[in-house]
Amino acid sequence: MSVVGTDIYEAVRLIREGDVVAIPTETVYGLAADAENEKAIERVFAIKGRPRKNPLIVHLAEGMPLSNWVSEIPDKAELLMKAFWPGPLTLVLPRAQAVSSMITSGRDTVAIRIPAHRMTRELLRAFGGALVAPSANPSNYISPTTAEHVSAQLGKQIPYVLDGGPCMKGLESTIIAFPDGIPTLLRYGSISKEEIEAVIGPLATYTQSSDIPAAPGMMKKHYSPRTPLLLVDDIVDAIENAQGAIGILCHSPKEFADSKVLFKETLSRIGDIQEAAKELYSAMHRLDRRGLDVILAERFPDEGLGKAINDRLERAAHD
Ligand code: TXA
Ligand code: MG
Repeated sequence: MSVVGTDIYEAVRLIREGDVVAIPTETVYGLAADAENEKAIERVFAIKGRPRKNPLIVHLAEGMPLSNWVSEIPDKAELLMKAFWPGPLTLVLPRAQAVSSMITSGRDTVAIRIPAHRMTRELLRAFGGALVAPSANPSNYISPTTAEHVSAQLGKQIPYVLDGGPCMKGLESTIIAFPDGIPTLLRYGSISKEEIEAVIGPLATYTQSSDIPAAPGMMKKHYSPRTPLLLVDDIVDAIENAQGAIGILCHSPKEFADSKVLFKETLSRIGDIQEAAKELYSAMHRLDRRGLDVILAERFPDEGLGKAINDRLERAAHD
């Protein structure tokens, strides 16, 4: 079983030895390894059960030279860096020669982000290099937003979980790529599309046409609890039609009379979207531990962070 603690230098020591360690970030917990150690990167894929064709994000500290990792920075990427780094924004950019093809899954681009979490920044500074860090969940399962989520899922496979408290944002970073120079949203995330567009103008949206996505991590099924989950517009109607023990995931307080409803998770008491995003995965983890037959999740209004939450719920619902 892994040790859970707050010792940044222990985490650095293990990473230097080529171990894989779970780390907090402002979005979700990551499974971190030295981005220049291919054996360690190999372990990250193995621990997550992650397909090799799904590339990793390189995490850097502020002030580390980007030129070791990327070969070109479009003007609009530069604007986004100034506006949102450090923070929950990942940029997919042309890669530098030296970047391991294990990180990029053989692509000619690399995903980069500079996280904002205080402990992550200290860790990156103390380590002095770059870390790959996919979300610290088994591939396709719900992402972890607490150290406890990580140890419950992957505790047997990693020596240390650096505990930075519950993640403040609770949703993964927003990912922007620049195919043919055109800023394109690859993944909805903690920074809304509207916030990005306020800085660089309209974004193209990546649309998925098959199960072999051009944005490799955008699998239709992802972020999924083991309990079947349905994303619904009318929750009362859905309760009537559902069989067995029901769990509810709703955005603001509501009462349900039906005795089939065994558990209810309310994401925000005051209907605050940021709070809802922060609580989403924790609520999904709790519901998934209840032994329910079905989770009914209420669709969010399709704007701002609501789009990112709906995106996660749609993937969680996909079978
Ligand atoms: O918030 C986050 O970004 C978290 C924290 C830990 O930093 N990390 C995270 O990593 O969500 P992961 O591996 O769970 O998701 C990374 C996504 C995947 O969908 C992957 O396919 C995509 O980034 N990605 C990575 N490199 C890419 C590339 N070169 N081109 C397109 N997509 C890429
Ligand atoms: Mg992930």
